[in-house]
Amino acid sequence: MNIRRSLIAGNWKMNLNINKAVELINAIAAIMNEIDEVDVLVAPPFTMLPAVRKAIGSSGIFLGAQNMHQDMSGALTGEISGRMLQDVGCTHVILGHSERRGIFQETDEIVNLKVKAALVLGLIPIICIGETLEEREAGKTFEVIKGQLNNSLQNFKADQLMPPSTILAYEPVWAIGTGHTATPEQAQEIHQFIRKWVEDNFNIGTANQIRILYGGSAKPENISGLMAKPDIDGALVGGASLKGDPFINLIRFKK
Ligand code: 13P
Repeated sequence: MNIRRSLIAGNWKMNLNINKAVELINAIAAIMNEIDEVDVLVAPPFTMLPAVRKAIGSSGIFLGAQNMHQDMSGALTGEISGRMLQDVGCTHVILGHSERRGIFQETDEIVNLKVKAALVLGLIPIICIGETLEEREAGKTFEVIKGQLNNSLQNFKADQLMPPSTILAYEPVWAIGTGHTATPEQAQEIHQFIRKWVEDNFNIGTANQIRILYGGSAKPENISGLMAKPDIDGALVGGASLKGDPFINLIRFKK
């Protein structure tokens, strides 16, 4: 029996506006009472968080942010701290997304500091890892994933503690926004490898409990095949999370 609840999470990236965001939340909230086996989360841009929190009301949709700074406060123009995210009602934060790593030069070491800060605050991190096409074609996928896990989760390793609520997201860079989804078999192979890494570095209990999401062109047409795999616990969705119909169909993947 799978002890892990499925999670469908929408990463809105730098899209939508407050009106559209509230409309989208209203559409999702309207079907939340039919969904009892799937957790739902949205990660809007910072400016929309208070309005989205209000629209979520008591519907049970989880609220996450897309990034945060590792410091609690200070002279860091343009940055947002984890405390500020909690202040507007976030319970989760995406860290180490490949767009942050690639475009904003976020290293594993920075991701590690952010994970630590989130943990201190009690924010649940959704930590992203994944290889580029070049790395995959060079046969380096496992090596890259292992390196990202070792270095981004260094603080967990040092403390020998990985809260089971921690969420990992395997997002092959070549599948993000390209329409080229990893096959369920390709994704399962990496998810299994990630779970084994957690077992080897922590313990089997933690490995059995943590959720590992797949991200990269996830959509209603391919979600069932992905979710049928034993180590795929949900999806981190970009493009298909921006409109009510596809996102709701993703949430309803079991029907
Ligand atoms: P797409 O679903 O648009 O490929 O984006 C995936 C992603 O990056 C989610 O974090």
